[in-house]
Amino acid sequence: MDIGGDALKTETDFPLHFGALREEDLDALFAWRSATPGAWRDPIATTIVKHRQWYEGTVSYEDWIRGVYDADGCFIAQTQLHPIDWHNKSAEIGLIVNPIMRRKGLGREIVQDTLHYGFRNLGLNTIWGEVYKCTDAWLFWTKVCPNMTTMPQRKCWDGMVWDSIYFWWTAGEWGREWWERE
Ligand SMILES: CC(C)(COP(=O)(O)OP(=O)(O)OC[C@H]1O[C@@H](n2cnc3c(N)ncnc32)[C@H](O)[C@@H]1OP(=O)(O)O)[C@@H](O)C(=O)NCCC(=O)NCCS
Repeated sequence: MDIGGDALKTETDFPLHFGALREEDLDALFAWRSATPGAWRDPIATTIVKHRQWYEGTVSYEDWIRGVYDADGCFIAQTQLHPIDWHNKSAEIGLIVNPIMRRKGLGREIVQDTLHYGFRNLGLNTIWGEVYKCTDAWLFWTKVCPNMTTMPQRKCWDGMVWDSIYFWWTAGEWGREWWERE
């Protein structure tokens, strides 16, 4: 797999390429995000204008925000380590998989490669994430992350206030062997 110019080995034979997020994929990404509006902390997904501002501001200049493509250039997913806190060597993970390609193991694979890049290439100590319990994506994170705790009252959505799950990996405990358990 080619991951932003740094070669990594992958355990799967599914060829994944992590590259700069292409402008031509913004409309698709906007549609994917808009389909799960309660999943996001900020209003990126609410208007195409906000979405383009995010692309032109945040994506162009900050941190590690990538498109995931197959060998034919098909847009499979968008993943990120953002924001990166360089002082404390930590970053937040984010991920969205093309809706027609879900439940095929791609999310797990992309998380694995994103962690690998963050710990081995960027030298981070902690990678963390937050998922709101108003979306069923939190069940995915329970499958791919060994550490989690509940944070109360984190999301106003659909007339209710929802808890979230905060999850994290540390460089010390992370390793390929974790993924081979089960
Ligand atoms: C959450 C998401 C990234 C999962 O990607 P995916 O490619 O479908 O996940 P995988 O196929 O690798 O699934 C890994 C495991 O999680 C489980 N899983 C995935 N999505 C799930 C869901 N919605 N509900 C319950 N379990 C789920 C799978 O069954 C699988 O379990 P298994 O290993 O026991 O078979 C994808 O559904 C998505 O992009 N959702 C919308 C965006 C989003 O909410 N992102 C998270 C914001 S924090």
